[in-house]
Amino acid sequence: MNDAKMLEGHVALVTGSGRGLGYAIAYRLAELGANVAIHDRSQEAPAEFGEFKDLNASAASIAELGVQTMGVVGDIGDEEATVRIARDVQAKLGPISVLVNCAGGDIAAKGGKPNPNDALGIKLEDIRALLDRNLIGTMLMCRAVVPEMMERHRGSVVNIASGAAHFGHTKEVGYAAAKAAIVHYTRCLAAETREQGVRVNVVSPGATKTGRFLATRVTDPDRMEEGYSLNRYANPREIANGVAFLASDMASFVHGQALRIDGGLTLYPG
Ligand SMILES: NC(=O)c1ccc[n+]([C@@H]2O[C@H](COP(=O)([O-])OP(=O)(O)OC[C@H]3O[C@@H](n4cnc5c(N)ncnc54)[C@H](O)[C@@H]3O)[C@@H](O)[C@H]2O)c1
Repeated sequence: MNDAKMLEGHVALVTGSGRGLGYAIAYRLAELGANVAIHDRSQEAPAEFGEFKDLNASAASIAELGVQTMGVVGDIGDEEATVRIARDVQAKLGPISVLVNCAGGDIAAKGGKPNPNDALGIKLEDIRALLDRNLIGTMLMCRAVVPEMMERHRGSVVNIASGAAHFGHTKEVGYAAAKAAIVHYTRCLAAETREQGVRVNVVSPGATKTGRFLATRVTDPDRMEEGYSLNRYANPREIANGVAFLASDMASFVHGQALRIDGGLTLYPG
């Protein structure tokens, strides 16, 4: 193994990788030699913000890197679907050694952003939808994949939270709370897998220039440019590099940690 192909021999499943940050992570893992399963909620989801025609197109673009890949669909909030997703990937690509839980977002039960979206006003149906899409989906995917990793004493899990998980907000509150729960679930799972050698960590990205982010936000032009200042939006690849590090043997003794990749947006200990 050399560093250029440090994930050769690995099978990775990246949820929510038909587009956006998940796609950038899948691409980076594939560049480093992993065979990667591309997952999304539906065949059509990658087209929502114009990134790919469909999931087959996302997977085909990863296959161009010369690794094995496949597309798999399913709602991560549905337990049966998560079991099927894991089984399909194992059947086609082999045992999963890298799981990246990237699917998620601040999406209301009926689509769009919750409104109201604050601590006291957010509707109960939106709180439940946010928990399903973020915390519960992440937990279900871990439950579907990690036991087998523990049996084989081989595996690395990287959950994707958010900078929003780490400080108090007046908006995006259900999302922030669900992401904070992912951070703590990661620690608890890490305690459970420690003796078996399955590493579990969480990455909290700051605002990142994905198709969805650019299509749904009023962005600050001063933060768009990738110059010397770290007071800017991240390029998806900058987040993907951190995930690749945690997934690889370069991070062989890094376990149960939250890595905030946010250009120093959250500068405090812990
Ligand atoms: N872009 C940012 O600024 C930013 C910052 C912090 C955290 N994040 C997190 O990174 C992840 C990716 O964000 P993104 O900006 O690429 O957004 P995105 O909406 O493009 O990506 C989310 C992906 O998850 C999929 N998904 C959503 N709900 C699902 C479900 N129930 N079942 C299966 N798939 C589902 C979507 O279809 C999509 O492919 C999300 O978890 C998001 O919360 C993003």
